[in-house]
Amino acid sequence: MKIGILGLGEGRSTMSAVLKSEKLELKMVCDMNIEMCKHRAEEFNFHNYTTSYQDMLNDAEIDIIAIYTPDHLHAEHVKQALLHGKHVVCTKPFIDDLSKAAELLELVEQSGKKVFIGQSSRFFEPMKKQRKDYEAGLIGDLITVEAYYHADHRWFLAKPWSLQQAFKWLYGGLSHPVDFIRWYLPEIEEVMGYGMLSANGAKGGLKNPDTMHFIFKAKDSRIARVSGCYTGPVQPVTRDSEMSCILRGTEGCSQGDYMDLRYAITDNTGEERIITWEHKLKHYFRFEGKSHHAGEYQNYLEYFADSITEGYTAYPDIKEGIGTIALLQAMDRSLQTGKPVKVDEILTEFNLTVNELSA
Ligand SMILES: NC(=O)c1ccc[n+]([C@@H]2O[C@H](COP(=O)([O-])OP(=O)(O)OC[C@H]3O[C@@H](n4cnc5c(N)ncnc54)[C@H](O)[C@@H]3O)[C@@H](O)[C@H]2O)c1
Repeated sequence: MKIGILGLGEGRSTMSAVLKSEKLELKMVCDMNIEMCKHRAEEFNFHNYTTSYQDMLNDAEIDIIAIYTPDHLHAEHVKQALLHGKHVVCTKPFIDDLSKAAELLELVEQSGKKVFIGQSSRFFEPMKKQRKDYEAGLIGDLITVEAYYHADHRWFLAKPWSLQQAFKWLYGGLSHPVDFIRWYLPEIEEVMGYGMLSANGAKGGLKNPDTMHFIFKAKDSRIARVSGCYTGPVQPVTRDSEMSCILRGTEGCSQGDYMDLRYAITDNTGEERIITWEHKLKHYFRFEGKSHHAGEYQNYLEYFADSITEGYTAYPDIKEGIGTIALLQAMDRSLQTGKPVKVDEILTEFNLTVNELSA
C-alpha cells in the first residue's frame, strides 16, 4: 500500500513508522511549511515532499492519505482525500465538531473508501494486553472504567494553533481517555462535568479549559469517569502514569499505563501480575525523550493496511470515531451549561442517528 502523509509535526512519527514497515511504502509527504519539509527530508533521507496538499491528492499511485494537521482542519482534509478516492487515516481527534460528520459518512458510502481513526493509545502494548485479557474474561463482567490523561503540556503552547479559540484540550487531550471509555462502554447515554482554565493556561494564552473532570452513565446504567489536566507539573511516571485505563470487573481488575509500557492485573484466580515491555522501548520511542512515539503508529498503520488488503474493518472506523466526537461534544456542552447532557440530543441536532453509527 502506498501512503502519503499530511502534516509533518506529529507526522514525523508516521514517517518513521512507514519507513520501518514492510507493509507500507512512503510515496510522498506534505507540509505547507517548506522548512518543515526540508527538515524531515534531511532527518529521514526521504526527499519526495510538497507544500501543496493538492499535489499529493493528485498522485494516482497513493492509496492512503494519513492526516496530522491541526485538529480544526481534519474534517476538510479528510473530505478532500475521500473526494480524490483515497483511503484515510486521521489522527485523533477525528474532527472537532459534528457539522461535517453526516457529509463525511456519505462520502465514505459513495467512495467505498475506508476511514480509520489513529487512536494511538489503543495500540500501545499495555492497552492491547488489557483488551485481550478483558475479552478472555479474566476480570469477569465489567463494573466500571476510569481513564485519565494528565500531562504538563506547556511546551505545546509554542504552537500558534493551540492559542486559537478553536483549540480545545477537551478534544485534543481527552479524546484519548474518552476513547477508552467508549471502547469498553460504547453506549454512553449521558455525561456531566466541570472544567476550568488554570492560572498557568490563562498565562500561556490558552482560550479554553485545560483542567476537566467528567462522569458518564451508560444506557445499561453502568458509570465511568475521565479526567484531563494539561498545564501544570505532574508526578514522575513511576508514581503517576500520564495516561491510564483502569477496568474494575466482577472478578478482577486491570490497569494499563500508556507511556510507562506497564500493565497490572489481579485476575479471576486472585493472582496479581505486573507486566512491562522494556524490550519494546526502541519500537515505541524512537526519538529523543517520549514526546514522539512511533511504535503504536506502526502498529495501527499495519492493522489498517491489512484491513484494506484482507477486506475487514479496522477499528476505530469512521462510525466509532464520530460516536466519540458526539460524546466529546456532549461533554463540551456540559461544561458550557453546567448540566448533564444526553449524547442522543447532540446526535439529533446534527441529523445523525445511532443506527447510522452502529457497525
Ligand atoms: N498520540 C497521538 O495520536 C498524537 C500526538 C500528537 C499530536 N497528535 C495530533 O496530530 C495533529 C497535529 O499535531 P502536531 O502536534 O503535529 O501539530 P504541529 O503544529 O506540530 O504540526 C502540524 C503541521 O501541519 C502543517 N499544516 C497545517 N495546515 C496545513 C495544510 N493545510 N497543508 C499542509 N500542512 C499543513 C503545519 O505546517 C505543521 O507543520 C493534531 O491533530 C494532534 O492532535 C496526535
